[in-house]
Amino acid sequence: MTAIDFFVTTPLPAPGMQLLEAAGTVTVAENGMTHAELADACASGNYTVVVAQLRDEFDAALLDRAKIAGISNFAVGYNNIDVTAATANSVLVGNTPGVLTDATADIAVLLMLAVARRCVEADAFVRAGKFHGWEPELLLGHDVSGKTLGLAGFGRIARATARRALAFGMTVAFCPRPPSDREVSEEELGEFAGRVRHVSWTELVAASDYLSVHVPLNDQTRHLVDAAVLKAMKPSAILINTARGPIVDERALVTALRDGTIAGAGLDVFEDEPRLAPGLAELPNTVLLPHVGSATVPVRAEMARRCAENAIAMARGELPPYPVNPEAPRTAAR
Ligand code: GLV
Repeated sequence: MTAIDFFVTTPLPAPGMQLLEAAGTVTVAENGMTHAELADACASGNYTVVVAQLRDEFDAALLDRAKIAGISNFAVGYNNIDVTAATANSVLVGNTPGVLTDATADIAVLLMLAVARRCVEADAFVRAGKFHGWEPELLLGHDVSGKTLGLAGFGRIARATARRALAFGMTVAFCPRPPSDREVSEEELGEFAGRVRHVSWTELVAASDYLSVHVPLNDQTRHLVDAAVLKAMKPSAILINTARGPIVDERALVTALRDGTIAGAGLDVFEDEPRLAPGLAELPNTVLLPHVGSATVPVRAEMARRCAENAIAMARGELPPYPVNPEAPRTAAR
């Protein structure tokens, strides 16, 4: 059997590393590897499969030179990979769907509550020794029950967020593929039939007290939430983004938060991660998290297992259990 060599750009949680080490030789990249170094590693012919992170960009130029059988992305999203170019170059791509749905929906709801109830400001207030006793008008926030949650998207994470919001007594509306629309069958609605409203993007933006983004990043969704959309939202509305930063025009968001166009934002992702748009960090009506949607011990362990299983299958010339481009021609270990 041909040797299997994994190139791991950042070490995975232990369950993943153990599987990789049992299946082949593992090389871990130097800290701070540049894009050019990643491209050279992919072109070197030394590695069968690359185990990658969202910050590793696999563009067409890299993929055209690559001599690898696959890329196993340690994430459900894969906007860091030009999948068309991967397929054209017989590079399989794997991801880790399903396992992080609930954890990410939890973070969407956490952000919604944290912004609504001014949780971060309140915590800072106590720690600063400013709490001198109960006051009738101390740190008043907004309700969630009785309010409308608008979901941009109706995939796994949006539906898990809907489930939670309904339990909070919220009204839930969704637009499945903003900014356009698509049919949603009764079967797809499933448990939500009669409990959530399917509306147009324009209607969703105007009706939402909380607008939560749950779409993949692509050419249709880049800057989906721009200055015009922010202007069309209620001045009392709160924007939540646990999907991908570039879906929101972050500079326009800073302006909108500053001038009261909308009331607040809870963000787990940023347009130019890990950098923040100028002024964002100074705004008190925001809660900002460092992309921790899937960050629980069990979820990351399971993601690591799935990521390793994908990598091992691709290295053996097999279809990975979680393929993104199953149509890509398979190449055996080289
Ligand atoms: C995280 O953002 C993921 O796509 O898994």
